[in-house]
Amino acid sequence: MDLTHPDLAHPDIAHPDIAHPDIAHLDIARVRAGALDPARIVTFIDEVLEFDARENAASGLGPDFDPLPSRVRQEFLTATEYTTREFWVGRLGGEIVARGIAHLSLHDNVDQAEIWLAVDPRLRRCGLGTALLERMEADLAADGRTQLRSFNEIAVAACASERRSPHLAAASGAGSLPAALPAVEFLSRRGFALQQVERCSRAETAVATQIDIGRLAAAYAVVTWTGATPEEHLDGMADLHQRMSTDAPGAAELMEEETWDADRVRQLDAERIGAGETMHTALALCGREAVGFTEVSEPTDRTEAGWQGATLVAAEHRGHRLGAHLKIANHRALAQRSAVRRVYTWNAVENSWMLAINGLAGFVTHAWTGLWTKRLA
Ligand SMILES: CC(C)(COP(=O)(O)OP(=O)(O)OC[C@H]1O[C@@H](n2cnc3c(N)ncnc32)[C@H](O)[C@@H]1OP(=O)(O)O)[C@@H](O)C(=O)NCCC(=O)NCCS
Repeated sequence: MDLTHPDLAHPDIAHPDIAHPDIAHLDIARVRAGALDPARIVTFIDEVLEFDARENAASGLGPDFDPLPSRVRQEFLTATEYTTREFWVGRLGGEIVARGIAHLSLHDNVDQAEIWLAVDPRLRRCGLGTALLERMEADLAADGRTQLRSFNEIAVAACASERRSPHLAAASGAGSLPAALPAVEFLSRRGFALQQVERCSRAETAVATQIDIGRLAAAYAVVTWTGATPEEHLDGMADLHQRMSTDAPGAAELMEEETWDADRVRQLDAERIGAGETMHTALALCGREAVGFTEVSEPTDRTEAGWQGATLVAAEHRGHRLGAHLKIANHRALAQRSAVRRVYTWNAVENSWMLAINGLAGFVTHAWTGLWTKRLA
């Protein structure tokens, strides 16, 4: 098993024959996050960024979804006590033609892996995706990671053009995806089951300044901050993160409860800073108790697009529009204190309360995401 491949930055690139790729020559290297000397992988990261940009250009998701150099670099260079990543890089004639990633939790869910893979858009439908997936599955199964999760992202226009074609329904009972789209057919033919469909939506932060949903109920207060979690809110945030792992619709069926404490929150904050992300958080308090939060990440590499992180209101405090108040407060803070002009978010289509909150906060549909699972033998 080769986890510290010495030749990641390949010296002799003889470009692959695009018309007739020879799968027998596909060279797949497996790499673990942090296992490499940073100085040796500068060229390699540039190659990965080039591959990812090509992949995104073909996806139709738009330039906001182009790879973020700091994030890609950090994914390869660092692991934490709680999570790590592994990568598979497939080359033909020395050039990267396919890549896969597995996100691995180290304290809980140790039999699981969240995987994703992509093939060079010029070389699809030649068997490269299958070859890479088979290798990833074999490596992960050998390490006891037999519960796989995966996802695929479909630009709203691609879905709309398939409106009348057969659809595959999600096991959650809500939502479906066009069955003939490449990634949908690929994953379903390879034994993955479509569990859930999420809506990816986009909101302009300026819109929040014009929204009025009335006053916050008297028992509550909302505070916002930028950057690492203030000391006084570490325990409250840990409690909310732990609830988040099982409280989101469908989450309890996909994974076991995560364990969180103040230290894990500090490590997550540090990891995000290392990945070039500035977090903007809104926290709801009932007295001194933390009862809900929402967070948006602002990448330092490309500050105009922000990415919604978790949003949670503790079950016993729902029904007071806290979710909408949190999001609107955070968007207002973003509009005033940051360069973020739009925020992207993902929500399960059965999560009607969250979609209603997002409607109030000015979100429109941008893409559809399939969440898939597979149990390896
Ligand atoms: C999904 C993806 C990785 C497939 O890679 P690939 O190298 O084209 O896959 P393969 O050539 O091994 O295809 C295997 C099977 O998938 C299905 N498939 C792949 N592309 C398809 C397409 N355009 N239309 C219909 N079915 C398709 C077919 O069943 C195919 O088998 P067949 O050719 O014998 O009929 C590739 O389309 C891709 O990179 N997509 C963008 C990234 C992505 O969405 N990843 C999500 C999956 S984790």
